[in-house]
Amino acid sequence: MNIDEKYMRECFRLAQKGYGRVLPNPMVGCVVLDKTGTPVSKGYHKKYGGNHAERDALLKLKNNEAEGGTLYVNLEPCSHYGKTPPCVDLIIERKLKRVVIGMRDVNPKVDGVSRLIEAGICVDMVLEEEAKFLNRVFIKNMTRKMPYVVLKTAITMDGKISTKTGSSKWITSEESRAEVYKMRQEFDCILTSSNTVIADNPKMEHQFKCILDKDLRVNKDAEILKQGRIYIASGKNTPLKDGRLDIEYVLKELYQKGICTVFAECGGTLAGAMLKSGLIDEIYQFIAPKILNDNSGLSCFTGDNILNISDAKKGRFYDIKKIGPDLLLKCVLTT
Ligand SMILES: NC(=O)c1ccc[n+]([C@@H]2O[C@H](COP(=O)([O-])OP(=O)(O)OC[C@H]3O[C@@H](n4cnc5c(N)ncnc54)[C@H](OP(=O)(O)O)[C@@H]3O)[C@@H](O)[C@H]2O)c1
Repeated sequence: MNIDEKYMRECFRLAQKGYGRVLPNPMVGCVVLDKTGTPVSKGYHKKYGGNHAERDALLKLKNNEAEGGTLYVNLEPCSHYGKTPPCVDLIIERKLKRVVIGMRDVNPKVDGVSRLIEAGICVDMVLEEEAKFLNRVFIKNMTRKMPYVVLKTAITMDGKISTKTGSSKWITSEESRAEVYKMRQEFDCILTSSNTVIADNPKMEHQFKCILDKDLRVNKDAEILKQGRIYIASGKNTPLKDGRLDIEYVLKELYQKGICTVFAECGGTLAGAMLKSGLIDEIYQFIAPKILNDNSGLSCFTGDNILNISDAKKGRFYDIKKIGPDLLLKCVLTT
């Protein structure tokens, strides 16, 4: 690992300290070296509206220790007035010689790189792919004006979410279900469907829940309605696409309501439709060491007609964990 990569990874580590507190802003960390290459300050973006990582790190320095030094930051420094003044101005004022970034900012208002170069500061970029992965939620929000969507499924080893008779309680263990309760709190909203609510009558405790229910079939006494804020997308408030609720429209509506992340918990029909339309960014797949051995059991994704394996949706596993007897796989979709 070279020096630039070493300090950029340190920026990633610092940035992650802001996890869960900075959205809709990105997670950003910063390391400052003096002109001899010695680290003299570190900082990170702690909460939405707070100082950016560069400002946090540079303002800790009392004298001109940063002059002639290098500043590492995993996102291009901002050049516009937002909740705080432009970070490039402070970097220029503190006479840094070099700035190493992880990625350009996808916010069209930002062009910090040009400002730094104009001021005679050398700019380099390292570990771009990892920097983008770290801020995948921010990138999706900013570029698509839609929440980042993670689909959770709980399946048997043969990819089934229930038997043909609808028996599904419980596929995974108590430990996995406890993990799901915790996971939900990391998201701004749970998204589910009329069918799942009617079939399972789940509580899905959360501060904000969205139910797709075109014909308002969900019973008013359903457990899910007893707690949290509920947004029901129905034919009354949502346009239809091919006779179904336009899910993309619903997601954009949620984003307008301040929802940056969505945790989708539904059956194979909705999951398959969302997968086909490219509306799922990531999948958390719980796999129980159970096999139905019956093709008529419900699959976790249904709805496409793929003849060639090369046309399958593709992803990249980035995490695997054993939870009780089950496995949890995390996969970010790439196509
Ligand atoms: N193992 C797991 O992780 C898990 C999680 C949740 C549920 N489940 C199981 O899944 C089963 C239900 O599965 P399911 O396939 O019947 O239901 P589903 O996939 O949860 O939901 C289907 C409903 O979603 C809406 N929908 C589907 N496709 C759509 C599209 N293209 N555009 C817009 N809306 C669309 C429609 O509702 P409207 O027409 O009413 O809008 C449709 O009836 C239950 O038995 C439950 O136990 C398993």
